[in-house]
Amino acid sequence: MVSKKDETETEVGCLNRRAFLFASGTVVGGTVLLTGVPGMGNKAVEARMSRYPRMFIENMSRLKMNKPVRFKYPDKGRNSNSILVKMNEQAGGGVGADRNVVAFNTLCTHMGGDMGKTFQKRDAVLGPCPFHQSTFDLTRHGMIVSGHATESLPQVLLEVEGDDIYAVGLIGLIYGRYDNLKS
Ligand code: FES
Repeated sequence: MVSKKDETETEVGCLNRRAFLFASGTVVGGTVLLTGVPGMGNKAVEARMSRYPRMFIENMSRLKMNKPVRFKYPDKGRNSNSILVKMNEQAGGGVGADRNVVAFNTLCTHMGGDMGKTFQKRDAVLGPCPFHQSTFDLTRHGMIVSGHATESLPQVLLEVEGDDIYAVGLIGLIYGRYDNLKS
């Protein structure tokens, strides 16, 4: 179990959306403002980035294209169900030589349907959610493609050291929690 004091959150400046979408995966704690999000006009959308203790997930060399690896982060609770996936294309927040390895919490942000087994490689989405059919784009920080959800999927921040891939934080809030370490 991770203690609250391990979490760090600080304010950072505003990145333009393109720079953020294709950021290298470098981790900073704080809040990022996304502009130009479909359906939001020129309104800014806040995405909270929080850093948690680093956890090993998988070796880069063992990943197979479009074959998700399931794990839990930042703790072992049900709401922490997540997937790591090597995509066919560059993805926002992606790590690795091709910036195409990303990870997301798999609980739908609408009412918590678990989409852990719903990855669709053709469209690079997670979903449809088993409850009400929402789908989320894994190449664009888990943004909603369709359905009832109104929030993006929480994205797991990644770091690579040699061949090792680590989870080091989250962008967004896990469904059913008032912070990512408390149910
Ligand atoms: S819980 Fe996923 S769309 Fe409602």
